[in-house]
Amino acid sequence: MIEIRPVNGIRGEINVPGDKSISHRAAILGALSKEGITVGNFSTGEDCKTTLTCLKALGCEITKSDYKSGEKDLTDLDHLRSDAVGFENKVTIKAPKGLREPKNILDAGNSGTTARLLLGLISGIPNLFAVIDGDESLKGRPMGRVTGPLISMGAKIDGRDFGNRLPLSVRGKKLNGGTHVLQVASAQVKTAILLAGLNGQGPTTAIEPNTTRDHTEIMLEHLGVPISKCGLKTTVYPTSLINGGSWTIPGDFSSAAFWIVAAAITRESELQIKNVNVNPTRTGLLNVLKRMGLIYSIEDETLSGGEKTATIVVKSSSLEGTKVMPEEIPSLIDELPLLAVAATQAEGITEVTGAEELRVKESDRIHAMAVGLKKLGAQIKETKDGWIIKGKTALAGGKTRSYGDHRVAMALAVAGLVATSPLYLEGENCVRISYPGFFETLRKLTQNTKAKERIQS
Ligand code: S3P
Repeated sequence: MIEIRPVNGIRGEINVPGDKSISHRAAILGALSKEGITVGNFSTGEDCKTTLTCLKALGCEITKSDYKSGEKDLTDLDHLRSDAVGFENKVTIKAPKGLREPKNILDAGNSGTTARLLLGLISGIPNLFAVIDGDESLKGRPMGRVTGPLISMGAKIDGRDFGNRLPLSVRGKKLNGGTHVLQVASAQVKTAILLAGLNGQGPTTAIEPNTTRDHTEIMLEHLGVPISKCGLKTTVYPTSLINGGSWTIPGDFSSAAFWIVAAAITRESELQIKNVNVNPTRTGLLNVLKRMGLIYSIEDETLSGGEKTATIVVKSSSLEGTKVMPEEIPSLIDELPLLAVAATQAEGITEVTGAEELRVKESDRIHAMAVGLKKLGAQIKETKDGWIIKGKTALAGGKTRSYGDHRVAMALAVAGLVATSPLYLEGENCVRISYPGFFETLRKLTQNTKAKERIQS
């Protein structure tokens, strides 16, 4: 359990870890590359280490180098430094001899992206056999959205609940291409189909119902893989081997988001977050917060690996409620728990609709945030696909829990910064999934968090 004390504000300049979605993709595309993909600022989160561990079991060579340690074989994945920034955590992933059958079950842990993207990758590689499993949370999450289209491409996949739940077995083969209309707006599903299509017999097209994050498309283009994109339609052409590449992964907007909201809702804040990915398919939170009155600027924009990177400057802001529409949801899907926290500090009503996907994330995030914030005194009503939140409320502190979900944990920790008394967060260790250094950065910015042994209720 950790104690979070209220603060007047957060001030300073920070970096956040490398983007999780981009790190997964760089690693997985490295597995199709003989020369290798080298990326700096690889995500320090557990989820991306999980992807590296699975790729190693599939025969990839993975090495890490940084200023301090020099070059190392990444057998001990803990060599990734959780406090590293910039060019540290430089990782090279390659498969000079191609992929081989793993001896053991591939454990995707808590990571939906690892499981779904690996299903796409392995499905298309002739004769490669693997079984993919995950932790209790991941075993409960739907996989049919990925296995359905892959099976329709000819993939041999079977497992629990007729291929809808882990563990799943995959026997790769040369797949048909074809056109696939996605039933859910999910970048993971789109990416799995495109990865499978790289080894297909003809072009493979994914048509999404709404724009989702486009890191896969940007990275494929950056690596010179033939790909075309027209609105919601993306097509890849058979390319079994990928050229190598080297670039630095920008900071994760989803991690920066916690500090953006923390600065906005506390009274005396001014914060600079450097080198953050500002890909517009990810920054929907900024659009929504802007409508609510956020004072911010985006500076020093550059490109890295084809991705927009910038410094985000945020100041304390007086927020007002807003309506978040279903078409906006994919661009802030991972930031919605945090938006719920911001909404408790905004005058008037904030309504989120069309976010039913939140019910099948690492936890049921609609429920987890409604329970957590209600406990702190917020006026929040859970609906089938979102929340109705009435602000502004002076949140009380007290005991609350993470539901084992990293984003819920960090969103509630941010709520603690504006509570009237300390907040005690149970199950805070899950932040390691995406942001192991979260509490250190919080301490640096506020000098006010303190781990407690055990608080008696
Ligand atoms: C991700 C896509 C999103 C997001 C997840 C990472 C990705 O999931 O919630 O944290 O890297 O493609 P869906 O695509 O299933 O919405």
